[in-house]
Amino acid sequence: MHKDLESIVLDKDQIAAKVADAAAWLDKKFAGTTPLAISVLKGSVMFFCDLVRAMETPVQIDFMTVSSYGTGSKSTGVPKIVMDLAASVEGRDVVLVEDIVDSGNTLVRMRDLIMGRGAKSFTVVSLFDKPSRRVVDVKADYSCFEIGDEFIVGYGLDYAQQYRTLPYVGILKRSVYEK
Ligand code: PRP
Repeated sequence: MHKDLESIVLDKDQIAAKVADAAAWLDKKFAGTTPLAISVLKGSVMFFCDLVRAMETPVQIDFMTVSSYGTGSKSTGVPKIVMDLAASVEGRDVVLVEDIVDSGNTLVRMRDLIMGRGAKSFTVVSLFDKPSRRVVDVKADYSCFEIGDEFIVGYGLDYAQQYRTLPYVGILKRSVYEK
């Protein structure tokens, strides 16, 4: 375990099991269609790549970079589109893949944007859900794991752009971000 972590939340095997369950849920929901899966970068990158490869349903993929945290640990509340999608979402069944739903601001921004561009449907799959931090009334359609108000990093999730490449998710020691 990385020295800056106090404990592991999901190890490699637990992540693989959550990914398989989420992929099976999507396969059932989208059987016979070709949805457009969108990775909300950067946090969802690891989960996204594992999830779309675990699905049997053919999916097309696209990417959008949205950021509201900058280099700190608190959300600014205003998710900024840093890089837009390459493809049109018009008439598409969109599956938005997130690493975490926290305040919900990013989700609302993405939903309004994508539905405003004429998507046929909008489905959200998130690895983590942190309901205690919600400021807007929104929820992923499928969440793999509910977590309290701990600061988690790894498997895509960062603190100040660090720890994203850890192959597991852990709780960051308070001493790291309360300097
Ligand atoms: C994180 C995370 C989600 C969002 C969730 O992204 O990846 O997209 O925050 O928080 P919210 O529900 O309060 O909006 P961040 O803005 O930190 O960018 P990143 O994905 O590049 O880490």
